[in-house]
Parts: sequence; structure tokens; C-alpha cells
Amino acid sequence: MRYLTPVTLLLGALAVITPLQSQSAPDATSWPNIIPPTGQTTLLNWLNKSGYKENFLPEPKIHASPVHGTVKTYYNPILAGDLHAKRKVFRKGAAMVKELYSGNKVTGYSVMVKVQKHANTQGPDWLFYETADKTGQNALLGRNLSACAGCHSEGVDYLRSTFRPYK
Ligand code: HEC
Repeated sequence: MRYLTPVTLLLGALAVITPLQSQSAPDATSWPNIIPPTGQTTLLNWLNKSGYKENFLPEPKIHASPVHGTVKTYYNPILAGDLHAKRKVFRKGAAMVKELYSGNKVTGYSVMVKVQKHANTQGPDWLFYETADKTGQNALLGRNLSACAGCHSEGVDYLRSTFRPYK
């Protein structure tokens, strides 16, 4: 229940902008704290400033991931709206931020942003980003990065987490 209020507001906002979307999809410039920026430096700065915390929906708890260590994942309102509508292919702009923890400290981030409308393993659908140390040194960034996309292709349009903000 506690997720309903911001999401209801945001779903309302989505309904309002839907006619605009058919002309030009929203991007990081028009929705800075809903869609993560996709440049190496801008994305890292945005993460370090916790840009996702304002509007994204968090998992209820930090937990162990089978792959990513100790994590807490956040979904943006576009993805949350898609899950609410039971869509299996997410809209452009859908995004997840995963905080990577060491103890109770955030030490890095994994991010996915849907940059094209349709899932297509041949095409540039998802941007993947990962930094293990918050400095961006040795960060990975790329569309459909094979290091990430192979395993994520087993998910629902590349979403692997079973966290659903709605029942
Ligand atoms: C061997 C499989 C595997 C690989 C490789 C992998 N992931 Fe994941 N990822 C998972 C699984 C499983 C989850 C869901 C469990 C969890 O961590 O919460 C997940 C969750 C995520 C999430 C949260 C959204 C979601 O899909 O659940 C993000 C963001 C993410 N991974 C990013 C990345 C990035 C970036 C890379 C490459 C640098 C990557 N992953 C590589 C298996 C993988």
C-alpha cells in the first residue's frame, strides 16, 4: 500500500504525457529524475547524487543476489507502470538502478535503461551500466553489452528480478 500514492500520481502524469510521447518519447533531459542519463559521466554523477531516490520504487529490503552480491533494486515509474499494466515488453525509458552493497554501505551501481521500444537481442534495446566502486573507474557501459545481456535475456524483457511493486 505504501507504494500506491507516488505511483498513482506518476501514472496520472504518464496519462497526461501519453499524447506527447507519440511525437517524441521522454528522455533524461525532459525527465531528469525518472529516466537515468546515459552518458558515462552524467550517469555516474546522477547515481552518486541519488537521482533515482526521488521517484523510483525501491525493493523493501537489501538482500543477497544470486549474481550481483548484496543489493537493493529500484524501478522507475515507467517500468512500474508497465508491470502494473502486466506488460511483458517494457516501454522506452523503463529503467532499473541496483545499489551494490558492502555491509550497509552502497559501494557501486548496476543500471539498465530501455533505449528502444521492442526487445530484440540483435538491436540496441537496453543500455547496461555497472561500476563496482562509485568512481566509474573500470565501469562497463554499453547497449546490449554481452557481459550482461546474455544472462538478462532469460528475464521478462531482460528484467531478472522477481520484485513486483504490485501484486
Ligand atoms: C549470470 C547472470 C547475470 C549477469 C551476467 C548479469 N546479471 Fe544483472 N541480474 C541477474 C539476476 C538473476 C538479477 C535479479 C536478482 C537480483 O540481483 O536482484 C539481476 C538483476 C539486475 C538488475 C536489476 C533489474 C533486473 O533485471 O532484475 C540490474 C540493473 C542488473 N542486474 C544489471 C546488470 C548489469 C549492468 C550486468 C552486466 C555488467 C549484469 N546485470 C549482469 C543476473 C545477471
